[in-house]
Amino acid sequence: MKEVPPTVEEAAEFAAGLDRGRRDTAGGIRLRRFAGPVQHAEMLEHVRIAHLTDLHVGRVTPFKVQRAAVELTNRESPDLVVITGDFVCHSQLYLDQLEEVISGFGAPVICVMGNHDHWSGAEEVRRALRRSGAEVLDNRHTVITLRHQRLQVVGLDDAYTAHADRRAAVKGLRPDLPALGLSHIAEEADGLWREGVPLVLSGHTHAGQVTLARLHELAVGRFAGHKYIHGLYGQRRDTGAVYVGAGIGAAVVPLRLGERGQREVALFELGHVPGAFEEHHEEQPARVGRKPSEKQKYKRHVAVVKKSVKRERRRVKT
Ligand SMILES: [Fe+2]
Repeated sequence: MKEVPPTVEEAAEFAAGLDRGRRDTAGGIRLRRFAGPVQHAEMLEHVRIAHLTDLHVGRVTPFKVQRAAVELTNRESPDLVVITGDFVCHSQLYLDQLEEVISGFGAPVICVMGNHDHWSGAEEVRRALRRSGAEVLDNRHTVITLRHQRLQVVGLDDAYTAHADRRAAVKGLRPDLPALGLSHIAEEADGLWREGVPLVLSGHTHAGQVTLARLHELAVGRFAGHKYIHGLYGQRRDTGAVYVGAGIGAAVVPLRLGERGQREVALFELGHVPGAFEEHHEEQPARVGRKPSEKQKYKRHVAVVKKSVKRERRRVKT
């Protein structure tokens, strides 16, 4: 497909983004609000879910940004906070800071793991999360009662590193209770919709971080093969929807340019149907996408094992 040159509006956004990018320290976190799927309209009580993803607590993301994300979330008084993986960057050096962040949320926290968590040591990250009071869903679901309303939360382990097991996660899921899905990789949503999970929250792409002149679509869509890049896809009125959060942190460079590329906390008002209030955007068409080949999957699996062996060697040495 031929790449379309940027419009005048995008060029203006570029200039504004450059300025924001320079000034972006603790600020610049966007709050975006969305209604839930129609399948949740029968809920006895409306429930507010705050979705954050890709915190990447560590050297690249200033800690004051993490604090600002917690403050912004708490100010909205959500009933539940869900976080869809990549809590760390490349090491276990900042697990104490991660604990401080997670224990700062005023609402219960339910989360799933991402590829960076597996690369850095999934068990250690899980333990830190549990010490902070969070519930980690590794291919299973849990039922939580919020405002007298029972909600099933289904969590997949990371699909990028081949740890996701949808069948295990949905086993015993009740069709008579509303369900919400969590998966670091958004493309897993298609399978979860078929299992009766009408809304899936995810992350991993950081919205491309630089969303100017459609660079993010090129990088995340064409090169990385993602169908879902940032925001809402699918259908909340029908088959099911997925939301890809832009994330809070970064693992390599902290640069975030363009309106869509900004750090983000997304609020989902379950029980409200689309159209009940003004939203940041509606469902967007998915990109064609490209599934990872068996060779790619194998390489990703080997990468996790190699990193674990390296860590163990270093531990024995010291
Ligand atoms: Fe990721």
